[in-house]
Amino acid sequence: MSEQPQMITPVLRVEQLEKLTPADLNDLCDATDAAVESGGGFGWVALPARELLERYWQGVVTMPARLLYVARLDGVICGTAQVVLPPMNNEAQKHAVHLTGVFVAPWARGYGLSRLLLELVEERVAQAGYSVINLDVRETMTAAVHLFESLGYERIGEHPYYAKVDDRIIKGYYYTKWLEAPPARPISVS
Ligand SMILES: CC(C)(COP(=O)(O)OP(=O)(O)OC[C@H]1O[C@@H](n2cnc3c(N)ncnc32)[C@H](O)[C@@H]1OP(=O)(O)O)[C@@H](O)C(=O)NCCC(=O)NCCS
Repeated sequence: MSEQPQMITPVLRVEQLEKLTPADLNDLCDATDAAVESGGGFGWVALPARELLERYWQGVVTMPARLLYVARLDGVICGTAQVVLPPMNNEAQKHAVHLTGVFVAPWARGYGLSRLLLELVEERVAQAGYSVINLDVRETMTAAVHLFESLGYERIGEHPYYAKVDDRIIKGYYYTKWLEAPPARPISVS
C-alpha cells in the first residue's frame, strides 16, 4: 500500500516587534532583499548594502514615532508594515497615522499574511485612539491596490509624478480609511 503524501500546514503569525534579535534582523533583511529584487521594496529600487539595511531596521525599532509590525511564516519574518505616528506639534492631525513599508516576500505571498498584518495594524491603531489611516502606493503595485481597496481604503487622490523607477515616471494613489463610523458629513467652512 502506497503512503499518502502528508500536507504540511504553514504556521502564520503577525505581531508588533519592539526589539530585534539577531535572527529576526537577519530574516528582516533577507525578506527586504527578496522584496526589492522582485520590484516591491517600499522605495528601494536597487538592493541596499546589508549593513545599511541592518541600520535601517534597527532605526525603525528605535524610533518612538514608528511602530513595526511583522508577518511570520513558520517563525521566519517574511513581511512588514510600519505605522508612522503624527508628530507632537501636529495637533490638527493627531487623529491620523500613516501606513508605510507594507510588503510580503515573494516566497510567502498568497497565504493571506498581508491581510492579517493590516487587520492587526488597524486593531492596534484604533485601540491607541487614532481614527484615520493614510497611505500611498504606486499604481503598478496591483496586488497592494487590490488589498487596500478590499480592506475598505478609499482612493482620495492621484499623483502623476509619484515615483521614478529606471527613468520611468509612475503614477501614485493616495488612500485613507476611517477606523470608526465617519462623521455624517464634513463640517463646512462658510
Ligand atoms: C501586496 C502584498 C503585500 C500582498 O501580500 P500577500 O501576503 O501575498 O497578500 P495576501 O495573501 O494577504 O492576499 C491579499 C489579496 O491580494 C490579492 N492578490 C495577490 N496578488 C495579486 C495580484 N498580483 N493582483 C491582484 N490581486 C492580488 C489576493 O488575491 C488577496 O485578495 P483576496 O483576499 O481578495 O483574494 C505583496 O504582493 C507585496 O509585497 N507586494 C509588493 C510590495 C507592495 O506592493 N507593497 C505596497 C506598497 S505600500
